[in-house]
Amino acid sequence: PNPTLHLENNALMLENVDLNAVARVHGTPLYVYSKAALQSAWDAWQVPADRPIHICYAVKANSNLAILSFFAKQGAFFDTVSMGEISRALAAGAPAHRIVFSGVGKSVAEIEFALTEGIHCFNVESITELDRIHAVATRLGKQAPISLRINPDVDAKTHPYISTGLKENKFGIDHTEALAAYMHAATLSGLSIVGIDYHIGSQLTSLTPYLDAQNRLFGLIKQLSDAGITLTHIDLGGGLGVRYRDEVPPTASSLVEQALAGLREAGFNHALMFEPGRSLVANAGVMLTEVEYIKPTQHKNFAIVDAGMNDLIRPALYQAWMQVVNTVERDTATTTYDIVGPVCESTDWFAKDRDLAVEAGDVLAILSAGAYCMTMASNYNSRQRPAELLVDGDTVHVIRTRDVLASLWENEHIPV
Ligand code: LLP
Repeated sequence: PNPTLHLENNALMLENVDLNAVARVHGTPLYVYSKAALQSAWDAWQVPADRPIHICYAVKANSNLAILSFFAKQGAFFDTVSMGEISRALAAGAPAHRIVFSGVGKSVAEIEFALTEGIHCFNVESITELDRIHAVATRLGKQAPISLRINPDVDAKTHPYISTGLKENKFGIDHTEALAAYMHAATLSGLSIVGIDYHIGSQLTSLTPYLDAQNRLFGLIKQLSDAGITLTHIDLGGGLGVRYRDEVPPTASSLVEQALAGLREAGFNHALMFEPGRSLVANAGVMLTEVEYIKPTQHKNFAIVDAGMNDLIRPALYQAWMQVVNTVERDTATTTYDIVGPVCESTDWFAKDRDLAVEAGDVLAILSAGAYCMTMASNYNSRQRPAELLVDGDTVHVIRTRDVLASLWENEHIPV
């Protein structure tokens, strides 16, 4: 799944870097990302068009400053969901006017911050949020650029935990109430209406739900323009899936091209925006973890590794299937293992019933770990979150050092 991952003399390489060797130097658990893979994922979204197309990288997928800086240099916009994510994007060199702010629970402090910085637009998720943004903007003597996130009620056909565009989800404004919400927004002097957006779910492997949702929007956009409300952009959200195992997701360029074709057919000349996270970073990264013990039991063989669910939670949380390979290819017979971590929870596993030729001391690579892995890491069990590296050809950059022990309690105080 990663274009820059390959075997060379039985050693797993990311670009020109030997992963087993790099794990010995930098320790495990360890995230390693490939700059060339990031570049090819970014390039896949670039399609020549008759209008501006803004690719807003969804910061939540991987928010390391080096990754954000890479995308900022490509000219990316950024989709953010908190003051912390906006601040990270700014710290990485993204101009505020390329930042959009999504999320159902924006606080007054966050709205103030985003307005003061001068972001591109707020993706608003409820009518009460419109009123709140209007009040803050009026108090600051500003006008807030807004887009309404519509819940189009389409089934994204993905895992229920990452599906967001159904009417029972908490996200967005019901499409049947959208016109009234826009009319309300138009009466609020602290707001300037600039767009419309939706995001229906993540890890989508078909274009159909995207295009169904887009069609739902078209009727609404016509009604709005009849009512004198014109929009400058349409934002189709993120959600494009990647291959973890045998999925065959549509290419980014086919999504962009079909969305453009739909807009042209409808006679719309709006700028187009997308908010991809996973498809830009998932397959650019691996997590490396050393096998501490091989533990055969009467029922199962366990390979106990030094990474835990706190370091990479997707299998524990979504039963996600992630590919696991040995960084050194052994020619011995394979055995069937469950690959599990040291955390005191039965959900602390990475893979079940995998055939591997492995010995204690080997370094395993969990593939497609560039998205929603490090950003979801925690210090549960008082474990130190991993270090992160970015490789570029044969150069290795440390882009995050491992948590030090004292940082685990640095914000805590014992009352006297
Ligand atoms: N825009 C909005 C408003 C979102 O909520 C999301 C993701 C994205 C864009 C980016 O979606 P992507 O292109 O990455 O699919 N932790 C889960 C995924 C949660 C996605 C949440 N929203 C996982 O590990 O699978």
